[in-house]
Amino acid sequence: MLPPLSQVYLDGRFLPPDQAKVSVFDRGFIFGDGVYEVIPVFGGRLFRLPHHLARLEASLAAIRVRNPRTAGEWSDIFTRLMAEHGKQDQSIYLQVTRGVAPRDHAFPSNAVPTVFAYAQPLKYPPPEQLSEGVAAITTADIRWQRCDIKAIALLANALLRQQAIEQGAAEAILVRDGVVTEGAASNIFIVKNGRLVTPPKGPFILPGITRDLVVEIARAKGIPCDELPVKTETLSSADEVWLTSSTKEILPITRVDGRAVGDGKPGPMHARLFALYKEYKRAFIEGKVE
Ligand code: PDD
Repeated sequence: MLPPLSQVYLDGRFLPPDQAKVSVFDRGFIFGDGVYEVIPVFGGRLFRLPHHLARLEASLAAIRVRNPRTAGEWSDIFTRLMAEHGKQDQSIYLQVTRGVAPRDHAFPSNAVPTVFAYAQPLKYPPPEQLSEGVAAITTADIRWQRCDIKAIALLANALLRQQAIEQGAAEAILVRDGVVTEGAASNIFIVKNGRLVTPPKGPFILPGITRDLVVEIARAKGIPCDELPVKTETLSSADEVWLTSSTKEILPITRVDGRAVGDGKPGPMHARLFALYKEYKRAFIEGKVE
């Protein structure tokens, strides 16, 4: 079933979704050979656009695909897609693949990247998830060793998220060599004795834009925030656990593997950081911060 949108962007054209077609020989389809971004739009403005475009650039460089659009061109595409939904909060999905070529693992010499993007209204987590928190499971991080690339090949992430859902949880917290990496589609924070801790950047996590913003806001307000490895024992004894992402923002995790986190309710540090995040968002919508 197609999403109820009047248009998507594909390779230079704005089309109804049912008319947007990609070759079966597209390397995105054959190999999962491509990268993507999800950019939130608040109050009609693209939130942290330069950060998302910088991460896109890094993902493309890592897979050695040239960025097929300039920052100005990306911005124009997104603006046109956003217009359909007025001032509603929304998210932009964009993906770039290596393009169409006869099937061969080696890179084709002259493929043209396929560029696809659409905008859709943002589905915020239901209010009870914010007031009660969500459940998570911990499970082995079965992904590859370049999780810093925002690759469209998300089979492992999809399997892990589904595993969580089937165990009655909303997210899988991934563990590699005894330390927490991130969620199946989110970054993880813990709070212990008034300090925030989030795993450091590196090849095993996606450098989340929301994660970076939370770190930035915490430090600006003098809230101690460390980027340090989080052992599974530390996760188990945390006062609070949160997940962050562009679409879920900052969501409290109040049960891990069936056990309550702290007193089983969203904690005071979550309330504080979420309030500061919303204040930042408001200022952004009013054009007071970039
Ligand atoms: N996913 N880690 C992974 C593996 C993710 O897929 C995501 C986001 C994040 C959080 O990154 P950010 O704060 O930049 O959204 C971390 C998006 C939302 C998705 O795949 O839909």
